[in-house]
Amino acid sequence: MSTTLITNIGELTTNVGFEGDRSGTRRDAAVLVDGGRIAWVGSAADAPDADETIDADGRAVIPGFVDSHSHLVFGGDRAAEFEARMAGEKYAAGGIRSTVAATRAASDGQLRARLRGFVDEMLAQGTTTVEIKSGYGLSVDDEQRLVRLAAEVTTEVTFLGAHVVPADYADRADEYVDLVTGPMLDACAPYARWIDVFCETGAFSVAQARRVLDAGVAKGLTPRMHASQLGPGDGVRLAVELGAASVDHGTYLTDADIAALAASDTVLTLLPGVEFSTRQPYPDARRLIDAGVTVAIACDTNPGSSFTSSMPFCIAIAVRDMGMTPAEAVWAATAGGARALRRDDVGVIAPGARADLVLLTAPTRIHLAYRPGVPLVDRVWKDGVPVVAASAQRRGDHGSLAR
Ligand code: NIG
Ligand code: FE
Repeated sequence: MSTTLITNIGELTTNVGFEGDRSGTRRDAAVLVDGGRIAWVGSAADAPDADETIDADGRAVIPGFVDSHSHLVFGGDRAAEFEARMAGEKYAAGGIRSTVAATRAASDGQLRARLRGFVDEMLAQGTTTVEIKSGYGLSVDDEQRLVRLAAEVTTEVTFLGAHVVPADYADRADEYVDLVTGPMLDACAPYARWIDVFCETGAFSVAQARRVLDAGVAKGLTPRMHASQLGPGDGVRLAVELGAASVDHGTYLTDADIAALAASDTVLTLLPGVEFSTRQPYPDARRLIDAGVTVAIACDTNPGSSFTSSMPFCIAIAVRDMGMTPAEAVWAATAGGARALRRDDVGVIAPGARADLVLLTAPTRIHLAYRPGVPLVDRVWKDGVPVVAASAQRRGDHGSLAR
């Protein structure tokens, strides 16, 4: 197995010992990769020899982004719905049903090609771990198809049969929950690690959400939840009570929600692309962090509420509009996502962790928020394998000039 040394790193975000703005980084650093894992981290001056050496030229290296919330297996798009929203329409959960119809009509090959395209798009933007949910099939066969396809590209597969009540079960929500917690769960659990439910007015009640998550747990899945996206509710406290790994959205949190989260191991995953794309108010991440809540950032890539796959874009919003520092936002998009997926092998740059690394065309991680919309991801390694190569066009020498 050959070794690779990335040296002359101006700012290395390790996330080790992260306690705020300036910690969790090393200056003038080097990283040794061996067999897909990080073998050594230290000062460039003390770097060991390696089979291959890559000069970072004073630029920044961060852990690959851990995007802990996405819906990448679907057919169609809802550009017209977005256009109407920008003209004043409100986002509503019911739009999910139009994607269900388009997804059911698509072949496996069509869904797979699109899914793989999204994964490549994400890699090019520095995302090396992605969680993928079902939720646009909503029948036993279609949900199983979606988790099976998702499992082809990630180990972080979530069964979200309880996304919304499908049109064929209109006014029979409890019967639909019987289906989700019975035959649909039986068909999907072998492909999934997680069970999720959209607990919101217009989707599933707290009592229904409890049934769904309890059934998933009984099948060996671990809970996560969509809650408080469209208004305040009791979903967040249910998620905490059931020991969910993460509760996601949190656009409308109450003081009681925040106190419950702060006293728990449940991560609150913010989805800045959703507020951006639905014109809802941005949640106050500062209030959450100051209260002691563990916060992650994810894209929630989906055709309805957030059709971005860019973690740098979400970081920029979190800094600009949610009150996070750039350091906190980058932590939330890497180590925070890893916590939301209960992983300790990703989201950090430390000996033993996976060698999932991103070399930026920038001297510091601050540039991810400071230069919004600019493609700053130059090179990406996943498990030590280069998956995005240096682009001559992007290399430039911005890093050294700015130092
Ligand atoms: O995470 N909130 C529920 N599910 C998705 C939206 C799905 C859709 O609109 O198609 C979300 O925002
Ligand atoms: Fe979602």
